Amino acid sequence: MTSDKNNRTNNQKLIDWVEEMSALTKPDNIVWCDGSADEYDQLCAKMVEAGTLTPLNPKIRPGSFLANSDPDDVARVEDRTFICSKSEKDAGPTNNWIDPVKMKKTMKELFHGSMAGRTLYIIPFSMGPLGSHIAHIGVQLTDSPYVAVSMRVMTRMGQAALDVLGSDGDFVPCMHSVGAPLTKGKKDVSWPNSKTKYIVHYPEERSIWSYGSGYGGNALLGKKCFSLRIASVMARDEGWLAEHMLILGLESPKGKKTYVAAAFPSACGKTNLAMLIPPEGFEGWKVSTIGDDIAWIKPGKDGRLYAINPEAGYFGVVPGTSMKTNPSAMTMMKSNTIFTNVALTDDGDVWWEGHDEKAPNHLIDWKGNDWTPDSNELAAHPNARFTCATSQCPTVDPAWDNPAGVPISAFIFGGRLSHTFPLVYESLNWDHGVYMAATMGSEATAAAVNQAAIRRDPMAMLPFCGYNMADYWSHWIRLGQSLKHPPKIFRVNWFRKNNNGNFTWPGFGENMRVLKWIFDRVNDKKDAAESPFGYMPKYKDINWSGLESFTSDTFEEIMDIDCEAGKKEVEELKAYFATFEDRLPAEIENQRIAFSKRLNEAPEIWRINS
Ligand code: OXD
Ligand code: MN
Repeated sequence: MTSDKNNRTNNQKLIDWVEEMSALTKPDNIVWCDGSADEYDQLCAKMVEAGTLTPLNPKIRPGSFLANSDPDDVARVEDRTFICSKSEKDAGPTNNWIDPVKMKKTMKELFHGSMAGRTLYIIPFSMGPLGSHIAHIGVQLTDSPYVAVSMRVMTRMGQAALDVLGSDGDFVPCMHSVGAPLTKGKKDVSWPNSKTKYIVHYPEERSIWSYGSGYGGNALLGKKCFSLRIASVMARDEGWLAEHMLILGLESPKGKKTYVAAAFPSACGKTNLAMLIPPEGFEGWKVSTIGDDIAWIKPGKDGRLYAINPEAGYFGVVPGTSMKTNPSAMTMMKSNTIFTNVALTDDGDVWWEGHDEKAPNHLIDWKGNDWTPDSNELAAHPNARFTCATSQCPTVDPAWDNPAGVPISAFIFGGRLSHTFPLVYESLNWDHGVYMAATMGSEATAAAVNQAAIRRDPMAMLPFCGYNMADYWSHWIRLGQSLKHPPKIFRVNWFRKNNNGNFTWPGFGENMRVLKWIFDRVNDKKDAAESPFGYMPKYKDINWSGLESFTSDTFEEIMDIDCEAGKKEVEELKAYFATFEDRLPAEIENQRIAFSKRLNEAPEIWRINS
């Protein structure tokens, strides 16, 4: 760690910006982070002293720590997240907007002196493999050492990123303060933050200002703020895609490898799918992980799309993770992991709801209180997280750090829908696929089967698209039309329920059976039925080896289509599309009309096996 900028960079834009921001925020010290292991260890030791981190038992979880946040700072704050484009219409109806000049004034007032008594850490980072033509550089200024160590895990952080930036390279400036100045001898707390929170993006100037929170996506600005909200704008302007997608590789026993990228809203098992272990019946098949959350995807000279995971670590939800749901994540977090807001056991390990081990007789819960199995409180916060390097993922793909990226053969979009939507279907063409992705979502409530309204989450980008969502659909349509070899597009739904209200599909590792059909489709096997929704596998097209109990009758329960329910969907979408006014691309409305026509021409119940 050093405060000597001269040894670090001669990038004048960066030096000027750091000077301007330190004059504004008035920190006691300035540290240029080099990204070394020594620096990480020193910062962790400092946070142990301050009570921010508790070291875990090195015999059980070597190199690992527990952090407990302030109970008022536990998740992303969507209602405090703003896209401050010059025109409100460019932010669109799905984003919060405030005039950028007005917002800049508010930000400058809040950041004025906000780092008093603290250290300003300068964190240069690369989103994506160092030097990759798909990667981009950011620099975050923060007064949080927890953010500094987390950014070392989550990105390629430090001197190497400054070296890539060089003297005239460009970077996304990411300004962050926890908003808790230590003025007049004020004593620090273990998790400083502010009741006033703002997560602000300036798309035209490609910059981020985040104030008041030290947690996750609010504070690790390389993640949602840069890699999705700002990068989606860069991608629109430069002809690529910044997506909320996992990337995985599927390798057949014959060694044929196919990469797919998949988008799911929260709570749909995205991390579990990214690290799937193939079930019985798939001997010789391998699933490997490039990324679990974000994909940057650029067209290659050969007319295909190539993707990287811009991140270098996982910030995954912990509760619900077990050897059954995600054995790879369990292995991954055995060491060198920062846990946030899980419970502490008496022997210095961690525990959470959904763990394989039953609850111990005594714990310290995520709020720091004694906890027993009789307690009415949760031991771990539902949004408790683990922060861990990608290199520790047991299923990591050998190409995860390849600067060239991996070729994407299919996009998969999923939601959580208890009725109407089949287990899997493929789009009839690119525009239809974009329509399928644009209309995805999850049920707002599971209270009444067949009646719950769908909360639309287009491409799982609702909280992450940095501009007008309808313009984003236009961008997808144009980009796909320009590709010689566009990926095929699929929708999946692991969550359809039968008439008794139970989930029919076993999910988890068994999702491999669906991935295998997708693998077959993109590798030119033609077996599929054409339904009003799109192409679908018949029972015989899926490998049931190891799951013979799943009969053709059960398959019908999650594949047959109630066309009357489909028509209701078409009507719901009419009202939804109207909210985008004149920005709605004609192609999307045309797809809605074509879908309606297919449903009107189909029998009331379209049956997969007839
Ligand atoms: C995340 C999210 O944390 O999507 O990845 O909310
Ligand atoms: Mn995410």
